[in-house]
Amino acid sequence: MKTTLANARIVLEDEVILGAVTIEDGIIAAVDQGAGAPAGAEDMGGDWLCPGLIELHTDNLERHMQPRPGVKWPVAAAALAHDSELASVGVTTVFDALRVGSIVSEEKARYDKYARPLASEILALRAAGAFRISHFLHLRAEICSETLLEELAEFGPEDRIGIVSLMDHTPGQRQFRDTSKMAEYLTGKYGLSGEYLDAYFARLKALSDRVRERHEAGAVAEARRLGARLASHDDTTREDVAASEAHGCRLGEFPTTREAAEESHARGIAVIMGAPNYLRGGSHSGNVAAAELAEAGLLDILSSDYAPSSLLMGAVRMGRETGDLARGIATVTAAPAKAAGLEDRGRIAPGLRADLVRFAMAGDLPAVRAVWSRGARV
Ligand SMILES: [Fe+2]
Repeated sequence: MKTTLANARIVLEDEVILGAVTIEDGIIAAVDQGAGAPAGAEDMGGDWLCPGLIELHTDNLERHMQPRPGVKWPVAAAALAHDSELASVGVTTVFDALRVGSIVSEEKARYDKYARPLASEILALRAAGAFRISHFLHLRAEICSETLLEELAEFGPEDRIGIVSLMDHTPGQRQFRDTSKMAEYLTGKYGLSGEYLDAYFARLKALSDRVRERHEAGAVAEARRLGARLASHDDTTREDVAASEAHGCRLGEFPTTREAAEESHARGIAVIMGAPNYLRGGSHSGNVAAAELAEAGLLDILSSDYAPSSLLMGAVRMGRETGDLARGIATVTAAPAKAAGLEDRGRIAPGLRADLVRFAMAGDLPAVRAVWSRGARV
């Protein structure tokens, strides 16, 4: 089965050319330069054609599982809707982020265990061929928790765990250096406030002191056993980054300060920032702006975080602001593929998976017109 997509502005790794992409058996067979559409080819009408987007960190599935506060939507139905939403905005590979490490002894601010059964549902849907796009799992290992190591032990190398990230959301550090931001979040989510919050934060800090060392070392060892890449999360100081490097992290999620981003680059750690932060012009937790890091050349990868459609929008905006569309698109294609160790995708080149996105511009916004996942229109 052979398809040629012609008369397209093809976004290659470091340039854009006018030409045609030929797909054979789900693989890119050829990339040819030249205008016009030969007989039998699909005419892209001068639209852009870029590699399918690769999303390393999204909790978008949760939104589908709980579409209203208090409403639990069936997990399989939620996963299929999530998969369709991602396909519709050009994402063809996703690392679904699941938290491991729960807090089960708290009455009001419980963080229940859910990762293992949810992972099994996702893997079963994948095995049944129910998904439009390619799914991997990203286990977010919460250091400040009660159950991290027992939850990690429930996973094995066959579970497609591509990334394990080390997160520490202890109040008073990293993402929540400013505890008022964490208080705001918990007040919004659980209606907690005042004395309860003060006591709760004190309990979390004590828990963290008790388990941090064991949990960090354990999660690093588990990532190795699972064959996953290790990522840091919310690194704030140069010391945080040095510790992340010592753990073996090659990917740094959402450094909260410019100095942490600089130190990451100095140590060869790829920096991933939220596309919503980039597009909104700031971080909702009050941390460093993604745009500032982009301008300083310190941003390697964009993640849609909680808003899937922000991925292509962010990449195109970065292309416009740097005058280099290929560079913007690379932050959501070639760069995340490299960081996640995926050698079969992330660029438009012969021999790679035919994961492709056709888009046109509607004013400032990229409008997705078609998406192919391993050569199939999805
Ligand atoms: Fe965080």
